[in-house]
Amino acid sequence: MKKGRILIIYHSRTGNTKIMAESVAEGVKEEGLEYALKKVEETKIEDLLEFDGIIVGSPTYFGLPSAEIKKLFDDSVKYYGKLEGKIGGAFTSSVNIGGGNETTIMGIIQMMLIHGMIIQGTTKSDHYGPVSIGSPNDKIKKDCKELGKRIAKLVKKIRG
Ligand SMILES: Cc1cc2nc3c(=O)[nH]c(=O)nc-3n(C[C@H](O)[C@H](O)[C@H](O)COP(=O)(O)O)c2cc1C
Repeated sequence: MKKGRILIIYHSRTGNTKIMAESVAEGVKEEGLEYALKKVEETKIEDLLEFDGIIVGSPTYFGLPSAEIKKLFDDSVKYYGKLEGKIGGAFTSSVNIGGGNETTIMGIIQMMLIHGMIIQGTTKSDHYGPVSIGSPNDKIKKDCKELGKRIAKLVKKIRG
C-alpha cells in the first residue's frame, strides 16, 4: 500500500454527484496528498487496496446508494479483512431535502464499517457527510472540499 493516498469513487448519471466528487478532490489536493478520482464504472476492486483513504459518493436512489455503488461493495468482499483501518467518508446528492439522503450516506458508511474502516463525523456541517439537493451550490461545494481536507488530515495523522 502506498502511503497517504486517497481514492474518491463516485457514481453520477446527471452530474450532481460528480461535481461534489471534484470538490472533495480539491480538498485532498489542498492538504497535499495524492489522490485518484474515479467513476465507479472505472473502479477495479483491486484499487481499494492501494489507498489509505476511500471516499464514496452516490446519488440517492430510493433512500439508498445506487446499485452501481452497492455492486462495488458486494464485489469488495473478495478483499474482506484487507480494508481494515482505512479511513472512509461518504457524500450524496438527492432531489428532496428529506429524500433519504442521510440513509444513503449511512448505507455507505455501514458497508465501510463492516470492512473495519474508520469514519469521522463532523460538528461543522452535515454530520455524516455532505448532502446536495440537486446541483451543488457554493456552500455544498465548500462542505465537500472540507470532507476531502478532513479525510486527508486524518490519513496524515494516522499514517504519520
Ligand atoms: C432511480 C432513481 C431513484 C431516486 N430516488 C431518490 C430518492 O429516493 N430521494 C431523492 O430525494 N431523490 C431521488 N432520486 C433523485 C436523485 O437522487 C437526484 O436527481 C441526484 O441529484 C442525481 O445525482 P446525479 O446527478 O449525480 O446522477 C432518484 C433518482 C433516480 C434516477
